[in-house]
Amino acid sequence: MQIPRELNSIIWLSAVLAVGSVLLSFVFFFDPHSLVNPDWLTASVILLGLSLISTLMALQISEGGATSSLDFVPQLAAVLLIGPAGASALALVSETVSELFFYDKPTFKKIFNTSQVVLSVAAAGAVYVLFDGQVSLTEFDFSQNFPPFIVAIITYFGVNTISVSYVVSVAEKKPIFETWRQMSGGLIFFDFAMSLLAVGVALLYVEFGWMILVLTVIPLFGLRYSYGTTYELRRLNDDLLELLIKTIEAQDPYTSGHSVRVSESAQLIARAMRSNRKDLGYIRKSALLHDIGKIDVAYLEILRQKGPLTPAQRDLIRAHPDRGVDILKSIRDLHQDILSSVRHHHERWDGDGYPSGLAGEGIPLGSRIIMVCDTIDAMTTARPYRDPLPISVVREELLRHRGTQFDPSIVDLVLEQDLLGEIETSLPTYVPKTVGKSGLDSGAV
Ligand SMILES: [Fe+2]
Repeated sequence: MQIPRELNSIIWLSAVLAVGSVLLSFVFFFDPHSLVNPDWLTASVILLGLSLISTLMALQISEGGATSSLDFVPQLAAVLLIGPAGASALALVSETVSELFFYDKPTFKKIFNTSQVVLSVAAAGAVYVLFDGQVSLTEFDFSQNFPPFIVAIITYFGVNTISVSYVVSVAEKKPIFETWRQMSGGLIFFDFAMSLLAVGVALLYVEFGWMILVLTVIPLFGLRYSYGTTYELRRLNDDLLELLIKTIEAQDPYTSGHSVRVSESAQLIARAMRSNRKDLGYIRKSALLHDIGKIDVAYLEILRQKGPLTPAQRDLIRAHPDRGVDILKSIRDLHQDILSSVRHHHERWDGDGYPSGLAGEGIPLGSRIIMVCDTIDAMTTARPYRDPLPISVVREELLRHRGTQFDPSIVDLVLEQDLLGEIETSLPTYVPKTVGKSGLDSGAV
């Protein structure tokens, strides 16, 4: 993979800064006697081993499939036990080995990842010592060392998240703060809490020496197993929901794949709106589930009906969002935001929608996004009575109903960022094998 030109100088600058920070740590914070001290050398090797083991057990955090390793815990413990110079050198070796042997990604990403971790550890180490933190393998004075350690971990995550967000914001041409907010999400608090474990690792090392390998690796395996199982269960849950939706939609060739496509395009819009990780997950799921209220066979009959609808059938159509919510309530732990996005996905910006007649920003954001995506999908897929409509017509329709049916800011975003083009090119389009008879656009009901 070719390195994007605008990133080239930033990547190399980060590498130079990282190596420079290790050298500076040795110049200012290193006691040369450490190199002939067997305890110091043993601690360095054990902490390096812990760092590599943590990387190997990297936890898969669900949203976006990002890998989250706890290797920063032994690296921060190294600051307390062997000092900033040893810790930054350890981070350099550990990250280089990890990036070379454990990960498959472009070289420039490996260089940047290693550099930003080394810089973060070196900065945290320097701050710890400058704030009077004590480096020792034999004692840990909690009251003296805890406050500087807190400043050190703030420094660590500050350098780490800001440098990563900066590079991503340059690569994606987005504002840095929005990128930071989107990438960090709720994870920074989790990582911050986990980093406090470094104090525990240091205390255990002072007390038990090399036995720490046994004392920490077993709980780490337990943690990895528990997170791994939770992650797998969540994925299984998501896969089953998707399977359920596909099974329901398979009954009618004209709706087959509709919800998955709406879910994909809703994610595109939510990402363009720079929604955070959590909201992105809610929007994805509510878009996938928005029409689950049509599970009843009565809806299939309506979809296949040739003539106009009877008043009773219209009432049934208008009831599908509430029916959907009733069904979804049986799923434990489904977030309230998902339920309300499903309930209100047919509300219109001008208040003429159903079931509650909500208007404007009173409609949940997820519902407003689904309303746009639902209609785009209905227009861009084949119907029994017409071929898919061209993008130019879809664009005109969005503009025609901007501010009446649709949230004007979402329509503007879709048109300005050419998301229609992206939706059309990135999503699989379904071509029905059989032509049935249907009187309704799924986006209309
Ligand atoms: Fe619907």
